[in-house]
Amino acid sequence: VCTRAQSARQWRAVFDVDDLTEATRTCLEESEPRQAVRDVLERAVARPEDVLRQLRPETAGITLLHHTPELTIIHVVWAPGMRLDAHDHRMWAVIGIYAGRELNEFYRRPADRAPGLVPSGDRQLDERDVIMLGSETIHAVTNPLTVPTGAIHIYGGDFVHQPRSQWLDPDLVEEPYDFARTNETFARANAGWRG
Ligand SMILES: [Fe+2]
Repeated sequence: VCTRAQSARQWRAVFDVDDLTEATRTCLEESEPRQAVRDVLERAVARPEDVLRQLRPETAGITLLHHTPELTIIHVVWAPGMRLDAHDHRMWAVIGIYAGRELNEFYRRPADRAPGLVPSGDRQLDERDVIMLGSETIHAVTNPLTVPTGAIHIYGGDFVHQPRSQWLDPDLVEEPYDFARTNETFARANAGWRG
């Protein structure tokens, strides 16, 4: 566990975004920040009902909780059944689930530099689960449930402005990541969810 973060401020019994942000910021000073952040996020989602009370997963979308050049913390709500096409981040990431389920499908670039992507396994994440992603990770995310999924994603960099890539179904051709398209995906998912 991120000991300096603990000593810097008593972690409240109840989940609090400011406490999470401060603990995570302190982790950046450690030799293995990603592992320290994982420990902090594991503690946060270990009591998912506390997180649920603070971050209500009522509208699908991405909400910035903290955003600096070296650290981005977002609240992600996945509408029932929605899927976000394959993309990379080009920085480490730690994902924690406090409600519902995320299905992460992983991909890698073909060894021969051919176009497209090669599937490389998947990982189902449920309440209390936390995973670390490397800066090379390429994944697509689906909420396979008929209820919303709530997650906290923490990135070791500027998630908003970092140039990166997306690979759209079905051809999986690499192209620049387009946040406007992501927003449209969430808007469509909300319309379907509410409709
Ligand atoms: Fe992602």
